[in-house]
Amino acid sequence: MPVLGVCSLKGGVGKTSITLGLASAAVAAGLRTLVVDLDPQADTTLALGATGAAAQDVAAVLDNPADYVVKSALAVSSWDPDMLDVLMGSADSARHDGPTYEHRLGRLATALDTLDEYDLVIIDCPPSLGGLTRQGLTACDRALVVTEPGLFSVTAAARAFKAIDDLRRSSAPHLQPLGVVINRVRARSSEQAYRQAELEGMFGPLILSPMIPERAAMQQAQGAGRSIHDWPGASAAELAQAFDSILARGMRAMSEA
Ligand SMILES: Nc1ncnc2c1ncn2[C@@H]1O[C@H](COP(=O)(O)OP(=O)(O)OP(=O)(O)O)[C@@H](O)[C@H]1O
Ligand SMILES: [Mg+2]
Repeated sequence: MPVLGVCSLKGGVGKTSITLGLASAAVAAGLRTLVVDLDPQADTTLALGATGAAAQDVAAVLDNPADYVVKSALAVSSWDPDMLDVLMGSADSARHDGPTYEHRLGRLATALDTLDEYDLVIIDCPPSLGGLTRQGLTACDRALVVTEPGLFSVTAAARAFKAIDDLRRSSAPHLQPLGVVINRVRARSSEQAYRQAELEGMFGPLILSPMIPERAAMQQAQGAGRSIHDWPGASAAELAQAFDSILARGMRAMSEA
């Protein structure tokens, strides 16, 4: 199963929104998809309409990645109960966010190895580089780094690439960056244009196209518990198309690996 991680090492730049957009694109493309909610805030679990729907959650899976625990932490998403499942997030997972012994970093990967019914797994990581993000990245084939065109987000993106590189040399030899998604792009902002140019200078071909524009439809669909492909209007269609392109790029990269 191809496993795609979404990380940033910075809060609030859009990891969860990108995870949800890619899950929406995956379902629209007919891929049976599992979303892993590694963030103790559990925003993804809520947005996918899966809260409280399973007996266990990802915290129990990281305690013991046996197949029966994994099964008991899976819930169907209200977006599409046949195509989309969630490995439930919970505040309890924060227990696993401290320093982690290297020999334990493979627990999420071990858990995912007990499953074979998905065409794609997407992991939503928390904002910090703690044990949870390390677990997540160690389980991935490819990692997407999400950023906004602002100074602090740009420096965080650089740190995220360094973290991916460090993990590849230690616990995750197969891990590769897929690229940078620039989110919340506003058409007429000179500061943003400056930061975009800076990102292009730093990451060159790793910048994924298209960039994701800032659109009210993103928050409206999330607030209504619906997928962006299922939300009316031209802005939602534009976002949906952007996620289709990024997903296609990711699937291509992971099938070549
Ligand atoms: N392209 C966009 N257009 C409009 N709103 C957006 C966009 N991307 C994200 N948002 C909004 O910004 C807020 C933060 O986004 P999100 O929760 O996806 O970030 P995050 O990186 O997952 O945050 P955290 O670090 O807390 O996990 C949310 O309210 C979301 O709806
Ligand atoms: Mg989030």
